[in-house]
Amino acid sequence: MEVDRVQAIASLSKQIDTIPLEFIRSENEQPAITTLHGVVLEVPVIDLSDSDEEKLVELIAGASKKWGIFQVVNHGIPDEAISKLIEVGKEFFELPKEEKEIIAKTPESGIEGYGTSLQKEIDGKKGWVDHLFHRIWPPSAINYKYWPKNPPSYRKANEEYAEKLRDVSDKLFKYLSIGVGLEGHEMKAASGGDDLIYMMKINYYPPCPRPDLALGVVAHTDMSSLTILVPNEVQGLQVFRDGYWYDVKYIPNALIIHIGDQIEILSNGKYKAVLHRTTVNKEKTRMSWPVFLEPPPEHEVGPISKLVNEENPSKYKSKKFKDYVYCKLNKLPQ
Ligand code: OGA
Ligand code: NI
Repeated sequence: MEVDRVQAIASLSKQIDTIPLEFIRSENEQPAITTLHGVVLEVPVIDLSDSDEEKLVELIAGASKKWGIFQVVNHGIPDEAISKLIEVGKEFFELPKEEKEIIAKTPESGIEGYGTSLQKEIDGKKGWVDHLFHRIWPPSAINYKYWPKNPPSYRKANEEYAEKLRDVSDKLFKYLSIGVGLEGHEMKAASGGDDLIYMMKINYYPPCPRPDLALGVVAHTDMSSLTILVPNEVQGLQVFRDGYWYDVKYIPNALIIHIGDQIEILSNGKYKAVLHRTTVNKEKTRMSWPVFLEPPPEHEVGPISKLVNEENPSKYKSKKFKDYVYCKLNKLPQ
């Protein structure tokens, strides 16, 4: 099936200085109108190497309750591993179209593969972005069919990043558990334990002649438990707070952590999934590498029973993660 990639549309649009109508957002979404300019949101920055664990718990739990997003520095992932990940992903997206289409999504491949959101949003609009999805952990969940073969170092770079990311992920789950009075292992266990799936996504946002009118990824909360994101140097992530959209100030080599829907549910609403979206840039290509830490499809997620009592009745239904995803993607009530 022939699909129009945003990358191809972008190179055509460049010559005519305009964009197809389906990318032009309604006025209540256009970034030029809806962004609070002149303020850059400084989301909490947390030093993960701090030996004072109590302090870390307090900072992480505080940020997750109030913001649903924070950045971590001194996270233990070498800069080299991050720059490698960025380099090989960029190389893949710069390959000729035919080479990328080899690993294109098909109706059978599910979420994995190279793609463009085919499903238009409710108002028929599209995001200015192409993507690639593939699982990177655990080994039993990996399907190398959807990993680029080119550049040849793609696999090694992603495996090394996944390996390092596991320590960060385990730490975050531990501090989030303790932060709501649970034992260290409970939040991860409730997200699937060692079967927790690490889903890599690469977002590729080509330059856009009208960044004032288009969006990359439309406003959403992530379906994951947690999302750990690395961006390239081009700003574009925005967070919704107090009725406005704000640009998030990115700190080089930090990891951006999003609280996703599943942690909000597990914590019975104590932690908040962050509402976010992305803008695009007139001259530069923006890219980002979120890894979604997700429960396995059959794993049931609901508020952790220790967090439910008379004063805090259960706010969410318990359901299998795959059913949650189905409802969310089809815009059905949960
Ligand atoms: C996403 C997302 C943010 C970014 O892909 O879910 O929110 O910075 N991406 O690209
Ligand atoms: Ni997201």
